[in-house]
Amino acid sequence: MKEHSKIFHEQMDLRAARAEEVLRKYLPQADPCAKTVAEAASYSLLAGGKRLRPVILDASCRMYGGRSELAEPFMAALEMIHTFSLVHDDLPSMDDDEYRRGRKTTHIVYGEGMALLAGDALLNLAVETALTAFDKARTPEETAAVIRALKVLMRNAGMEGMIGGQCADLEAEAHPEETDAQKLLYIHRHKTACMIASAFQIGAILAGAPEQDIEDLGRVADDTGIAFQIIDDILDVTGDSEELGKLTGSDEKDGKVTYVTMHGLDGAEQEAGRLTEEALGLLDRLGGTADAEEQAFLTNLVRSLLTRRK
Ligand code: IPE
Ligand code: IPE
Ligand code: MG
Ligand code: MG
Ligand code: MG
Repeated sequence: MKEHSKIFHEQMDLRAARAEEVLRKYLPQADPCAKTVAEAASYSLLAGGKRLRPVILDASCRMYGGRSELAEPFMAALEMIHTFSLVHDDLPSMDDDEYRRGRKTTHIVYGEGMALLAGDALLNLAVETALTAFDKARTPEETAAVIRALKVLMRNAGMEGMIGGQCADLEAEAHPEETDAQKLLYIHRHKTACMIASAFQIGAILAGAPEQDIEDLGRVADDTGIAFQIIDDILDVTGDSEELGKLTGSDEKDGKVTYVTMHGLDGAEQEAGRLTEEALGLLDRLGGTADAEEQAFLTNLVRSLLTRRK
């Protein structure tokens, strides 16, 4: 059992390192006049991070025999959008946090204005990067898949996805008394699970996976993403700042309603466990065309998120 988890963690490290390489390929040369915003964007992007989303995207593409040339621009783009969301999430007008990925946050180092611009630049660069997938498409089917992947990427990041969740999160902070279980579920699903859905679904879309599998992967992502944010809420209370690379106690400082404040630590853990089991069951029942080795990798990955310490 222990041996198994060691093999998985080694695989995960290798795949995260590959995601990092892919990301570096798409960083542009900055004009000297715009050097600071480029530096601020790279500062947050290259500060480490688990690279979970590009690793999942890559695995879901491999699972259906897709081409890495098509997946790579989307791996980079998704991590850019995720990083943009973190840079803005840490701003004083949002969660007001000083550490991220083991370093001072972007606004502490470069100032608020530059952190805003760095976030904007990362979102813009993400779209430019994803668009390069069109140059790699070899058939009309691949071109159609790239168009669909782009739509999924942008919708999940926008007002019906991550930004919508961040909007509800900010308002819940101002009105905690109005935040019930249903609203909290909306927040976690949108601010976090939607970006995880991009990871699970875009790889499969680019690989031409069966429709039913793409739909099922959306449900896997919903469960996994909500559980991921519940664990993030738990680690904000019980985690180790050094290991996490961000200061614990942020939610309490901001007076946030979280799964921990609503259900207690045990209740939150139970719910994350239940959602993870549901995700694992769905992953196990994917259609027969899914590659067994990649399916097993994703299964191990989803399971590992429940006991993560960072
Ligand atoms: C942090 O995401 C924001 C949440 C959605 C909880 P990650 O925990 O994936 O952060 P990095 O990318 O590893 O820094
Ligand atoms: C993050 O939620 C969601 C985002 C879209 C960035 P949190 O605010 O809990 O994430 P951390 O704890 O700052 O990483
Ligand atoms: Mg936040
Ligand atoms: Mg935050
Ligand atoms: Mg958090």
